[in-house]
Amino acid sequence: MGKFEYKYDNPEGPVDPATISLHIDGRQEPATREEFYTNYPFYKYWTSDSNARLLSPEGINIYIHIPFCIQICDYCFYMKELIKSKDQVEDYVESLCMEIKMISERYSLAGKKVNSIYVGGGTPSVLTEPQFRKVVETLHKYHRIEDPEFAFEAEPGTFSRNKLEWLRACGVNRISMGVQSFDDEVIRLSSRKHTAAQAINSIRTVQDTGGFEVNIDLLSGLAGESMSSWEASIATAVQQQTDMLTIYKMKTYANTVFFKKGVHSKEIDLPGETQEIAYMQRAMEICFSEGLDLWSTFAFNRKGAQSVYIENTWRGEDMIAYGASSFGKIGSINYQNLNNIPAWSEKVRNNTMPVYRTFSMTYKDMIVKELLLCAARLFSYSKKEFVDKFGFDYFCLIPDVIDQLTDKGYITNDKEELVLTRQGILFGDFVSKTIASSVKNAFARDSIGFAY
Ligand SMILES: C[S@@+](CC[C@H](N)C(=O)[O-])C[C@H]1O[C@@H](n2cnc3c(N)ncnc32)[C@H](O)[C@@H]1O
Ligand code: SF4
Repeated sequence: MGKFEYKYDNPEGPVDPATISLHIDGRQEPATREEFYTNYPFYKYWTSDSNARLLSPEGINIYIHIPFCIQICDYCFYMKELIKSKDQVEDYVESLCMEIKMISERYSLAGKKVNSIYVGGGTPSVLTEPQFRKVVETLHKYHRIEDPEFAFEAEPGTFSRNKLEWLRACGVNRISMGVQSFDDEVIRLSSRKHTAAQAINSIRTVQDTGGFEVNIDLLSGLAGESMSSWEASIATAVQQQTDMLTIYKMKTYANTVFFKKGVHSKEIDLPGETQEIAYMQRAMEICFSEGLDLWSTFAFNRKGAQSVYIENTWRGEDMIAYGASSFGKIGSINYQNLNNIPAWSEKVRNNTMPVYRTFSMTYKDMIVKELLLCAARLFSYSKKEFVDKFGFDYFCLIPDVIDQLTDKGYITNDKEELVLTRQGILFGDFVSKTIASSVKNAFARDSIGFAY
């Protein structure tokens, strides 16, 4: 092959850009050699607060983990340890405050509005006033805290009126109390230390102190439960007139005593799947007949009470995680802090991110998350909200599945909203999983990067 020779074919003299302009989008675009592209996006759009730009403009939410308990319950899968000394908690609080400063500075969070704060555990109500005040003062120093929902988890045996007063003075406005059962034998068989009477007393103390929205947690599927003990427990829970009543299905995680003794070695009897469905069905009947409304598929409320923190988490708002083992989300990155308290603390004290693992969400993961956590869990979910967020109507993508869910009585297919029937509420996570995985499969032809 011969050598390539470039033939310059405009020997007539200089080129006039005006004569070679293009007509684009109704405008005449003269040819220009002014630009000299070496990168994209152009540097003039880059800013020094780009970490903060990872975060959504609506504001942030904060989760703080307090991993200390006065008892270790046989069903509990959360990261926690038995409280042994004051120093143990003091050291933890010290590291927590260092972490708040470090993360806020690293991600330029000081100006971001805080929509909700959730102090969970473990048992946050084991903290003393000086310990909690130190955390709250640090939060105020490094975050923009105006009037967020400020939720605090408590255990019936670990607080008093005095504690509630200083919690309120610190800005806490929601108490979520773990009760699990109002049957003394069921409580005892879970290795909890309080009695039903103490739990009732504690709920009353919170209500009498005032200034808090109150939620109580019950667990369906505990050891020693019978239909009559369950009915009595639900009736007692409803009588307490709390703003919210959450009923979790007890899951037997591998790191719990109930897993070892109930699932693995079968030393103890746990209610089976059919039994648990009957319990939850009965709980719904009692709650509805007593005038409670539904906030999510497993939480009942009165007068529109809600959990801002939980809803914001489900809707995918950014979450800043503080404390060992806590989960957070910044932009499309989900992350979890180190589980081991000394390892987490050492990282923080060395001014290093204490992260143990991360997951980077693709656009499709975000769709699945929205459908899995919001569409059914919030039992009525506007289609417009989904279209505004993702640009398409998922009902159109999976018409057969929507028809089946309607025909089999899980949802009422109205044009504007996904609304669960009672059966759909009982099987809420099944409905959301069906919708989410069907949408995922409908995308399958060009599918990349789905998490599950
Ligand atoms: C971290 S605990 C905090 C409450 C406080 N430590 C207490 O026990 O009173 C939060 C809630 O998680 C729920 N929970 C714990 N283990 C669970 C499990 N295996 N399955 C479902 N929910 C569980 C319980 O209802 C508990 O009230
Ligand atoms: S349920 Fe509460 S008190 Fe019991 S181990 Fe879990 S966090 Fe601790």
